[in-house]
Amino acid sequence: MTKKSIAVLCSGGDGPGMNAAIRSVVRSAYFEGIDVYGVYKGFEGLLDKSVAHLDLSSVGNIIQRGGTIIYTSRSSRFMQAEYRTQAAEFLKDLGVSGLIVIGGNGSFNGAALLHKEHGIPVACLPGTIDNDIEGTEFSIGFDTALNTAVEAIDKIRDTATSHDRTFLVEVMGRSSGLIAITVAIATGAEAVIFPDLKVDLASVAYTVKRGVTRGKKSSIIIVAEGEKEGLSHVYQKELQEAYGLETKLCILGHIQRGGNPSPRDRFLGSFMGNMAVKALVQGEKAVATVVRDGKFAIAPLNECLSKRNDFDRSLLDLLNVLAL
Ligand code: F6P
Repeated sequence: MTKKSIAVLCSGGDGPGMNAAIRSVVRSAYFEGIDVYGVYKGFEGLLDKSVAHLDLSSVGNIIQRGGTIIYTSRSSRFMQAEYRTQAAEFLKDLGVSGLIVIGGNGSFNGAALLHKEHGIPVACLPGTIDNDIEGTEFSIGFDTALNTAVEAIDKIRDTATSHDRTFLVEVMGRSSGLIAITVAIATGAEAVIFPDLKVDLASVAYTVKRGVTRGKKSSIIIVAEGEKEGLSHVYQKELQEAYGLETKLCILGHIQRGGNPSPRDRFLGSFMGNMAVKALVQGEKAVATVVRDGKFAIAPLNECLSKRNDFDRSLLDLLNVLAL
């Protein structure tokens, strides 16, 4: 009898903690007597037939490393049905009985289609620094990205204070403002701008100037990245021209996607990797590992396919109070 096997891939933007998840998938599968194929570069690897057998030692010494040892990609080919058919045929030829996908919202949708159109059992782990997947309170990579951003902004605060300056600091997250609002509160920022909400630069300028008047030596304005690139430059110009507020701009960018995962992201990856393997072993067909009400759970994949772009708006009130 041939040994049962599954495949694992990472897809979309990487996030710290993905390696912990891969390690957990491989070791948990081994424990169940199942072989694991690592698929390189996400769904692209299924189309290019780029896979390797991952044995126990291939995932040794990676739990603490950022990035993903099997790489990732945003596959536009996989968005087309003909390529998904090709990918499914490859998985069937490989003899795998399930696919584990670690990624964000787009990756979850790709996996859901692979299951719907070709019956491949899929188990998905939320892996994105944006933490914007519907149905789960946390995704792998979010916590580390917060830590990275906060550490960077604390440093910016030092130099801002020495020079009596105001900084605009842009953080990642696309249309999700979760990184922005969380780091704004955690760094004691004076204000936060969300391009996808109503932008009130008059009020931002007022808050900063009020602080300066009462003796603040530095001010930080967090800018959520939003869907459209380059908006921070627009805000910087407008704050200067319309409100006479001079600022320095720092775009944190991809630095937030790298680095050693935090203990929390290592734990999330480790726990969820194990859950995903067990779910496939138990015969689940299309599921996601999630955190709900603070507890780990297995959810139907179709509950996790949309983007979660909202956050608790009362956090803005909190920020305003704390920025007085
Ligand atoms: O989805 C994660 C993310 O880091 C977003 O916050 C960001 O907008 C995007 O990916 C950047 O993607 P890329 O690395 O493909 O430019």
